Amino acid sequence: MKRRNVYANIAMFSKLVILLPLLISVVASQDTNFTYNGFRSVNLSLDGIATITSNGLLEFTNDTKQQKGHAFYPTPISFKNSLNDIAFSFSTTFVFAIVSEYPTLSGHGIAFVIAPTRGLPGSLPSQYLGLFNETNNGNSTNHVVSIELDTIQSHEFNDINDNHVGVDINSLDSDTSTSACYYATSGGFMNLTLISGHPMQVWVEYDGIKKQINVTLAPINVDKPKIPLLSLSRDLSPIINKTMYVGFSSSTGSVLTSHYVLGWSFKMNGKAQELVLSQLPKLPRGKERSKLLTIGLPIILVRLVLVAISGITYVIKRKRKFAELLEDWELDYGPHRFKYKDLYIATKGFRDKEQLCKVEFNQLSYWLYSMPNLLVFQHLVTLYLGEFVVRVISEMEC
Ligand SMILES: *[C@@H]1O[C@H](CO)[C@@H](O)[C@H](O)[C@H]1NC(C)=O
Ligand SMILES: *[C@@H]1O[C@H](CO)[C@@H](O)[C@H](O)[C@H]1NC(C)=O
Ligand SMILES: *[C@@H]1O[C@H](CO)[C@@H](O)[C@H](O)[C@H]1NC(C)=O
Ligand SMILES: *[C@@H]1O[C@H](CO)[C@@H](O)[C@H](O)[C@H]1NC(C)=O
Ligand SMILES: *[C@@H]1O[C@H](CO)[C@@H](O)[C@H](O)[C@H]1NC(C)=O
Ligand SMILES: *[C@@H]1O[C@H](CO)[C@@H](O)[C@H](O)[C@H]1NC(C)=O
Ligand SMILES: *[C@@H]1O[C@H](CO)[C@@H](O)[C@H](O)[C@H]1NC(C)=O
Ligand SMILES: *[C@@H]1O[C@H](CO)[C@@H](O)[C@H](O)[C@H]1NC(C)=O
Repeated sequence: MKRRNVYANIAMFSKLVILLPLLISVVASQDTNFTYNGFRSVNLSLDGIATITSNGLLEFTNDTKQQKGHAFYPTPISFKNSLNDIAFSFSTTFVFAIVSEYPTLSGHGIAFVIAPTRGLPGSLPSQYLGLFNETNNGNSTNHVVSIELDTIQSHEFNDINDNHVGVDINSLDSDTSTSACYYATSGGFMNLTLISGHPMQVWVEYDGIKKQINVTLAPINVDKPKIPLLSLSRDLSPIINKTMYVGFSSSTGSVLTSHYVLGWSFKMNGKAQELVLSQLPKLPRGKERSKLLTIGLPIILVRLVLVAISGITYVIKRKRKFAELLEDWELDYGPHRFKYKDLYIATKGFRDKEQLCKVEFNQLSYWLYSMPNLLVFQHLVTLYLGEFVVRVISEMEC
């Protein structure tokens, strides 16, 4: 048994020795690598709602809802050598942010994508993330590998929730997915909200020998966590063609959302160069401010007017409500007369709960109220039934 193993190893080793120099020479010349700390004057292939802003943000947004867009590295990348059909190892990292019109609702997400074509023609927006359509979703002829940052739960694709990261192979039904979170150095996973508007970093690593893909997520400025968020053992060789395009796909749904990529680094057969976080473009704060001016200010003004109107109405009503109506009998008790306003407060607005009972007196109805917090009333009380008596003049309510 042992001996056979040794022979096998020697045989394999000799093969490696022969192949290795060849592999290296073929591979080295084709290894693509690029690092963009912001996209100012970067040549990307853009379509749909994808734009590069003046300060170098890659932005996917549109006022018109349910749109899609793509941003691809413009030239195809070799993912396999000419000798065999085994997909290379690769590594990529990018910083993204999702800013929504509403704090708890967004849509639909953004995905890192490896595809045989740049534009993903025929793909749909909204829940399809600009990746597939209803006829080709799940089709093995797609040859698409994607890491989705999905912010809407689409039950048709068995999404776990509206805040997840997934590895999608040829389909929006993720091969593996999990709630957005990251492994903190203090131990344990901490939840993240993809649509928080805060930049977050993603690392995607594929090991062509182990045939394993890892996805790691963390808030910006947090070092890459030691434990990945997702780990999928899957040979990408049958999915990935010899040359592929890499980039991003994003789509919007019914909620005005902006998806941003702040920086992106990629390397074939090696570790992607670290992004320089301090060099990344800033997210548009002005956008929120202009939103405040265009949407917020009119709302605030309308509210102010409403508040003013209701305030004036209140004052008028109050004045009327507490207007004194003096009756003959009241004049007899001149000094003991209480203002309607004081009685109103003491009886908590002549609340039913404060009523003790109803009494008839001089052919008029009187309600007895308890007013423990208005001792002065005791004086008035003795004049009547040894109880607190307040006459509620119902006409005054009108
Ligand atoms: C990245 O690719 C360029 C050629 O495009 C090469 O000169 C450079 O050495 C590569 N850098 C790394 C880190 O592989
Ligand atoms: C939104 O997308 C539509 C269709 O793609 C396009 O005509 C329109 O100019 C875009 N609007 C903005 C503000 O980008
Ligand atoms: C961008 O890249 C494409 C593909 O390599 C090329 O055809 C095009 O000329 C480039 N554009 C600019 C402005 O460099
Ligand atoms: C990708 O590879 C498959 C099978 O190897 C092939 O049928 C398909 O045409 C390729 N796609 C592109 C866009 O080259
Ligand atoms: C779906 O996408 C495929 C691949 O791009 C395309 O050939 C097909 O026409 C699309 N189907 C529909 C219904 O748009
Ligand atoms: C894949 O696409 C082919 C050709 O468009 C179609 O015949 C087949 O039914 C599709 N398979 C699935 C699983 O959708
Ligand atoms: C983290 O998110 C998951 C899934 O949404 C939830 O079940 C869990 O309670 C959250 N944990 C904390 C500490 O908020
Ligand atoms: C994925 O993560 C696991 C656990 O940290 C690690 O052992 C493995 O080497 C990683 N694989 C890749 C492809 O980075």
